[in-house]
Amino acid sequence: MNLRARHGRGSPLLLLLLVLFTSGTRTEALEPISTTIAVGMAAALTGFLATYQNIFYYFHECCRPEWISFNKTALKTDLEQKLFGQHVASRIVLKAVNGFMSNESPKKPLVLSLHGWTGTGKNFVSQMIAESIFKEGMDSSFVHVFTSTLHFPHPIQIDTYKSELQQWIKGNVSSCERSLFIFDEMDKMHPGLIDCIKPYLDYYDKLDGVSYRKAIFIFLSNSGGESIVQTALDFWRAGRDRSEIQLKDLETSLSLSVFNNKESGFFRTSLIDRNLVDFFVPFLPLEFKHVVQCVMAEMKARNLDLDQDVADQVAKDLVYFPKVDRVFSAKGCKTIDSKLDYYTKD
Ligand SMILES: Nc1ncnc2c1ncn2[C@@H]1O[C@H](COP(=O)(O)OP(=O)(O)OP(=O)(O)O)[C@@H](O)[C@H]1O
Ligand SMILES: [Mg+2]
Repeated sequence: MNLRARHGRGSPLLLLLLVLFTSGTRTEALEPISTTIAVGMAAALTGFLATYQNIFYYFHECCRPEWISFNKTALKTDLEQKLFGQHVASRIVLKAVNGFMSNESPKKPLVLSLHGWTGTGKNFVSQMIAESIFKEGMDSSFVHVFTSTLHFPHPIQIDTYKSELQQWIKGNVSSCERSLFIFDEMDKMHPGLIDCIKPYLDYYDKLDGVSYRKAIFIFLSNSGGESIVQTALDFWRAGRDRSEIQLKDLETSLSLSVFNNKESGFFRTSLIDRNLVDFFVPFLPLEFKHVVQCVMAEMKARNLDLDQDVADQVAKDLVYFPKVDRVFSAKGCKTIDSKLDYYTKD
């Protein structure tokens, strides 16, 4: 992959106007009358420039509050209404992002690590976070997504990846301190590559003149998913309500399984022992009723008539585990799109 950082944005017209403006202000040899005209022209030009700049920024995404500002209500509403069965993750994410975004001078960038079974909403929540901060959401040029198997597939090229990734992060945070970096499939990422982003996550005032303190890093992985499933299953078997599960019930087994898992990209990196991850966010496996909710949400998104029977049918057709109890959806809410097509298209 060729990672190339985006640098300062400008426009040739703006530059030309600036040149005209500065050459027009050399007034030492001019008569008083000409000076008055020059000053008038300069004022008009300044006004024009300001207007031009505002119009430019209005249409063109840039690193300014018009395009980047946190909407807490939007995030809260999205988490409450669109994310199903994730009361623990939902609470942590809202608190973490809200706390960070309302702090004018954070001491380090925000680092969230999202863990859980497949199809439980990790990418979905990253998208909600992006949408609550950036007007352009995931399409923003300040949101950067890396997928290990796609962007860093060959271990042999690790050194090239390292330097490209570091340049990319540095270049983009230099352009906009409020940059969001999402690392998907973190469990498949080479430990050396994780190590190379470590300095950016730490408590440094500046690194080579660049401050990373307002950036956000989100790591997504399936590691720890099995231990989360085990806890959820224990609750279910004990006849306890899922809503009783608290972070403390998951935290220890989650960090142990993430750290001790040899397959995990976190393995042997000092991300965890240096406390660079601010929040570990566990995603619970989804049950039948959540899958039904996902299907209903998908129907709504497609402007279809809401049909509970079809939703039940789609949910019933998915595979559940463990084999005997059939409690959790093996693919979470993934693949619902295509299943719904099957039931709604002739
Ligand atoms: N908890 C949830 N609530 C509502 N919708 C969900 C939930 N989980 C998943 N979905 C739906 O399923 C889709 C796929 O989920 P998503 O990509 O977020 O899963 P994931 O946790 O990242 O899975 P993987 O580990 O396989 O990458 C989402 O776009 C969303 O539409
Ligand atoms: Mg995902």
